[in-house]
Amino acid sequence: MADGQVDAILTDPPYSSGGLHAGARRADPAQKYQASGTKRTYPPMLGDCKDQRSFTMWATLWLSECWRLAKPGAPVLVFSDWRQLPVMTDAIQAAGFEWRGIVVWHKPSARPMLGSFRRDAEFVIHAVKAPARTFTRRCFPGVFNHAVNAAAKIHLTSKPLPLLVDLLGVVVEGGTVLDPFMGGGTTAVACIETERRFVGVELSSEYASLAAERIAAVELAHLKS
Ligand SMILES: C[S@@+](CC[C@H](N)C(=O)[O-])C[C@H]1O[C@@H](n2cnc3c(N)ncnc32)[C@H](O)[C@@H]1O
Repeated sequence: MADGQVDAILTDPPYSSGGLHAGARRADPAQKYQASGTKRTYPPMLGDCKDQRSFTMWATLWLSECWRLAKPGAPVLVFSDWRQLPVMTDAIQAAGFEWRGIVVWHKPSARPMLGSFRRDAEFVIHAVKAPARTFTRRCFPGVFNHAVNAAAKIHLTSKPLPLLVDLLGVVVEGGTVLDPFMGGGTTAVACIETERRFVGVELSSEYASLAAERIAAVELAHLKS
């Protein structure tokens, strides 16, 4: 893709999280991110086992490529958990983006932690390719409360569609959104629902096919409505 083509980046990369030590990070993502006792299985999620130093370098590399593809003023919105939040904010800035803040996604269904604090939030780092611009007169909250819809999930770590629709509020209407880690295609579906254009990348051919099927079905339903 040529430079300066996309109006926003909205993405949920593999977190390479889930433990303090290398062994814990290398565990199967289904074991790391799925509640024990969940019977449903999903295709393997790829690229989720980097150690901390290579994770930061790798994130800086792909975010630098996103910076090249973004138009000036484009927002970038990147999901992270609490463990990777500090390094992801470093990588975003190292790639050239200007950090603007953190959006909190409150997950009401998170499991309780005996004797500790419930980890019931994930984060969305908000940055821009300077100079910053605004594309709407609306004001948005800093905390969004959305439950994971288990029945609608086609990916091990699917994000709730209404959350992605909310996040797209800061993206210019009709703009092109890039998701370099599209998984089951939730960002794409949110783009269709809000009449934005979408470019997605996915390493796993199984998830790429599932996402393509989902996107085609949603596009068809959207055209009919
Ligand atoms: C956290 S998931 C995204 C889930 C998505 N937000 C959804 O709601 O379905 C991240 C995805 O990135 C993919 N992935 C990992 N490494 C990649 C790479 N280098 N390039 C493209 N995709 C990659 C994984 O296979 C996984 O499907």
